[in-house]
Amino acid sequence: MSDNIFEQPEVGRLLFSEEEIQNCVARLAGEISNDYKDKTVLIVSVLKGAVVFLSDLIRKLTVTAEIDFMAISNYGSIDSSGVVRLLKDLDTNIQGLDVLLLEDIIDTGLSLNYLINNLKTRQPASISVCTLLDRPRRRIADIDIKYVGFQIPDIFVVGYGLDYQGKYRQLPYISELNTEPQ
Ligand code: IMP
Ligand code: MG
Repeated sequence: MSDNIFEQPEVGRLLFSEEEIQNCVARLAGEISNDYKDKTVLIVSVLKGAVVFLSDLIRKLTVTAEIDFMAISNYGSIDSSGVVRLLKDLDTNIQGLDVLLLEDIIDTGLSLNYLINNLKTRQPASISVCTLLDRPRRRIADIDIKYVGFQIPDIFVVGYGLDYQGKYRQLPYISELNTEPQ
Protein backbone atom coordinates (compact mmCIF):
# COMPACT_ATOMS: atom_id res chain seq x y z
CA MET A 1 0.00 0.00 0.00
CA SER A 2 1.21 3.51 -0.84
CA ASP A 3 2.32 5.66 2.10
CA ASN A 4 1.31 8.79 0.20
CA ILE A 5 -1.34 10.55 2.31
CA PHE A 6 -3.25 11.53 -0.85
CA GLU A 7 -3.60 7.90 -1.90
CA GLN A 8 -5.07 6.25 1.18
CA PRO A 9 -8.05 3.95 0.59
CA GLU A 10 -9.51 5.12 3.90
CA VAL A 11 -10.06 8.53 2.33
CA GLY A 12 -13.18 8.12 0.25
CA ARG A 13 -15.49 10.27 -1.82
CA LEU A 14 -14.64 13.97 -2.11
CA LEU A 15 -17.21 16.17 -0.40
CA PHE A 16 -15.74 19.67 -0.66
CA SER A 17 -12.80 20.62 -2.86
CA GLU A 18 -10.07 23.04 -1.85
CA GLU A 19 -11.69 25.72 -4.00
CA GLU A 20 -15.18 25.18 -2.57
CA ILE A 21 -13.79 25.42 0.95
CA GLN A 22 -11.85 28.60 0.20
CA ASN A 23 -14.94 30.23 -1.33
CA CYS A 24 -16.98 29.22 1.70
CA VAL A 25 -14.36 30.58 4.12
CA ALA A 26 -14.30 33.86 2.17
CA ARG A 27 -18.09 34.14 2.46
CA LEU A 28 -17.97 33.51 6.22
CA ALA A 29 -15.12 36.03 6.64
CA GLY A 30 -17.22 38.59 4.78
CA GLU A 31 -20.23 38.04 7.05
CA ILE A 32 -18.10 38.19 10.20
CA SER A 33 -16.21 41.30 9.06
CA ASN A 34 -19.54 42.96 8.38
CA ASP A 35 -21.05 42.06 11.77
CA TYR A 36 -18.00 43.04 13.85
CA LYS A 37 -17.35 46.41 12.18
CA ASP A 38 -15.48 48.79 14.54
CA LYS A 39 -14.99 45.97 17.05
CA THR A 40 -12.21 43.62 17.96
CA VAL A 41 -13.30 40.03 17.79
CA LEU A 42 -11.66 37.39 19.96
CA ILE A 43 -11.78 34.15 18.06
CA VAL A 44 -11.77 31.18 20.39
CA SER A 45 -10.90 28.04 18.56
CA VAL A 46 -11.36 24.51 19.78
CA LEU A 47 -8.25 22.37 19.39
CA LYS A 48 -7.27 20.64 17.29
CA GLY A 49 -9.77 20.28 14.48
CA ALA A 50 -10.53 23.96 13.93
CA VAL A 51 -6.94 25.21 13.50
CA VAL A 52 -6.81 24.86 9.70
CA PHE A 53 -10.13 26.66 9.35
CA LEU A 54 -8.99 29.35 11.80
CA SER A 55 -5.76 30.05 9.96
CA ASP A 56 -7.56 30.50 6.63
CA LEU A 57 -10.44 32.50 8.12
CA ILE A 58 -8.37 35.12 9.96
CA ARG A 59 -6.39 35.88 6.82
CA LYS A 60 -9.64 36.87 5.10
CA LEU A 61 -11.07 39.06 7.89
CA THR A 62 -10.98 42.84 7.55
CA VAL A 63 -11.79 43.52 11.22
CA THR A 64 -9.22 43.27 14.02
CA ALA A 65 -9.11 39.72 15.32
CA GLU A 66 -7.31 38.17 18.24
CA ILE A 67 -7.11 34.44 18.77
CA ASP A 68 -7.07 32.05 21.70
CA PHE A 69 -7.47 28.31 22.15
CA MET A 70 -9.29 25.80 24.30
CA ALA A 71 -8.98 22.06 24.35
CA ILE A 72 -11.57 19.59 25.60
CA SER A 73 -11.80 15.85 25.81
CA ASN A 74 -14.41 14.47 23.45
CA TYR A 75 -16.21 12.10 25.80
CA GLY A 76 -19.37 13.97 24.85
CA SER A 77 -19.14 12.87 21.23
CA ILE A 78 -18.35 9.29 22.07
CA ASP A 79 -20.97 8.29 24.63
CA SER A 80 -23.41 11.21 24.34
CA SER A 81 -23.35 11.58 28.12
CA GLY A 82 -22.45 15.24 27.84
CA VAL A 83 -19.45 14.71 30.07
CA VAL A 84 -16.75 17.04 28.78
CA ARG A 85 -13.41 17.75 30.39
CA LEU A 86 -11.48 21.00 29.92
CA LEU A 87 -7.90 20.11 28.96
CA LYS A 88 -6.66 23.60 28.13
CA ASP A 89 -8.22 26.88 29.17
CA LEU A 90 -7.96 30.32 27.54
CA ASP A 91 -5.00 32.62 28.18
CA THR A 92 -7.30 35.64 27.81
CA ASN A 93 -9.73 37.12 30.35
CA ILE A 94 -12.81 37.44 28.14
CA GLN A 95 -14.88 39.71 30.40
CA GLY A 96 -16.37 42.47 28.22
CA LEU A 97 -14.97 41.00 24.98
CA ASP A 98 -16.79 39.97 21.82
CA VAL A 99 -16.12 36.26 21.52
CA LEU A 100 -16.55 34.17 18.41
CA LEU A 101 -16.34 30.44 19.08
CA LEU A 102 -14.93 28.63 16.09
CA GLU A 103 -15.55 24.93 15.47
CA ASP A 104 -14.62 22.50 12.73
CA ILE A 105 -17.85 20.51 12.99
CA ILE A 106 -20.89 20.50 15.26
CA ASP A 107 -22.34 17.05 15.66
CA THR A 108 -24.28 16.31 18.86
CA GLY A 109 -23.45 19.84 20.03
CA LEU A 110 -22.55 18.54 23.48
CA SER A 111 -18.95 19.78 23.50
CA LEU A 112 -19.91 23.22 22.27
CA ASN A 113 -22.84 23.45 24.66
CA TYR A 114 -20.46 22.83 27.53
CA LEU A 115 -18.04 25.48 26.24
CA ILE A 116 -20.72 28.12 25.70
CA ASN A 117 -22.09 27.66 29.21
CA ASN A 118 -18.58 27.75 30.64
CA LEU A 119 -17.64 30.95 28.74
CA LYS A 120 -20.91 32.71 29.56
CA THR A 121 -20.07 32.65 33.28
CA ARG A 122 -17.04 34.84 32.49
CA GLN A 123 -19.28 37.68 31.28
CA PRO A 124 -18.12 38.36 27.73
CA ALA A 125 -19.85 41.28 25.92
CA SER A 126 -21.15 38.78 23.37
CA ILE A 127 -20.64 35.21 22.33
CA SER A 128 -21.43 33.79 18.88
CA VAL A 129 -20.70 30.51 17.15
CA CYS A 130 -19.17 29.82 13.75
CA THR A 131 -18.70 26.31 12.39
CA LEU A 132 -17.33 25.12 9.09
CA LEU A 133 -19.49 22.00 9.09
CA ASP A 134 -22.88 21.36 10.63
CA ARG A 135 -24.29 17.83 10.91
CA PRO A 136 -27.77 18.47 12.34
CA ARG A 137 -28.99 14.85 12.17
CA ARG A 138 -27.30 13.82 15.43
CA ARG A 139 -27.86 17.06 17.36
CA ILE A 140 -28.67 16.61 21.06
CA ALA A 141 -27.91 20.04 22.53
CA ASP A 142 -29.80 22.93 20.99
CA ILE A 143 -27.21 25.45 19.84
CA ASP A 144 -27.68 28.80 18.17
CA ILE A 145 -25.15 28.74 15.32
CA LYS A 146 -24.71 32.15 13.73
CA TYR A 147 -22.30 31.27 10.91
CA VAL A 148 -22.40 27.91 9.10
CA GLY A 149 -20.09 26.90 6.27
CA PHE A 150 -21.73 23.72 4.98
CA GLN A 151 -24.42 21.38 6.26
CA ILE A 152 -23.50 17.72 5.82
CA PRO A 153 -25.46 14.47 6.03
CA ASP A 154 -24.81 11.77 8.61
CA ILE A 155 -21.37 10.70 7.39
CA PHE A 156 -17.93 10.84 9.03
CA VAL A 157 -15.56 13.21 7.25
CA VAL A 158 -11.82 13.87 7.25
CA GLY A 159 -9.47 16.55 5.97
CA TYR A 160 -9.06 20.30 6.41
CA GLY A 161 -8.33 19.87 10.12
CA LEU A 162 -10.72 16.99 10.73
CA ASP A 163 -9.12 13.71 11.71
CA TYR A 164 -9.73 10.01 11.98
CA GLN A 165 -7.56 8.56 14.78
CA GLY A 166 -5.30 11.62 14.51
CA LYS A 167 -4.76 11.28 10.77
CA TYR A 168 -5.78 13.18 7.62
CA ARG A 169 -5.97 16.68 9.18
CA GLN A 170 -3.44 17.84 6.60
CA LEU A 171 -5.60 17.13 3.53
CA PRO A 172 -6.58 20.45 1.88
CA TYR A 173 -10.04 19.10 0.99
CA ILE A 174 -12.83 17.30 2.89
CA SER A 175 -13.66 13.70 2.07
CA GLU A 176 -15.88 10.99 3.43
CA LEU A 177 -14.07 8.43 5.59
CA ASN A 178 -14.08 5.05 3.93
CA THR A 179 -14.66 2.53 6.71
CA GLU A 180 -14.38 -0.48 4.42
CA PRO A 181 -11.37 0.27 2.22
CA GLN A 182 -10.96 -2.16 -0.71
P1 IMP B 1 -20.06 17.12 19.29
O1 IMP B 1 -20.74 18.23 18.52
O2 IMP B 1 -19.92 17.44 20.74
O3 IMP B 1 -20.72 15.80 19.06
O4 IMP B 1 -18.58 16.93 18.82
C1 IMP B 1 -18.05 17.51 17.74
C2 IMP B 1 -16.58 17.17 17.71
O5 IMP B 1 -16.38 15.79 17.39
C3 IMP B 1 -15.89 17.96 16.63
O6 IMP B 1 -15.32 19.15 17.12
C4 IMP B 1 -14.85 16.98 16.12
O7 IMP B 1 -13.66 17.12 16.86
C5 IMP B 1 -15.43 15.62 16.37
N1 IMP B 1 -16.11 15.13 15.15
C6 IMP B 1 -17.44 14.97 14.98
N2 IMP B 1 -17.73 14.50 13.76
C7 IMP B 1 -16.56 14.36 13.11
C8 IMP B 1 -16.21 13.92 11.77
O8 IMP B 1 -17.04 13.59 10.91
N3 IMP B 1 -14.86 13.91 11.49
C9 IMP B 1 -13.90 14.27 12.38
N4 IMP B 1 -14.20 14.71 13.64
C10 IMP B 1 -15.52 14.75 14.00
MG1 MG C 1 -13.35 19.51 17.51
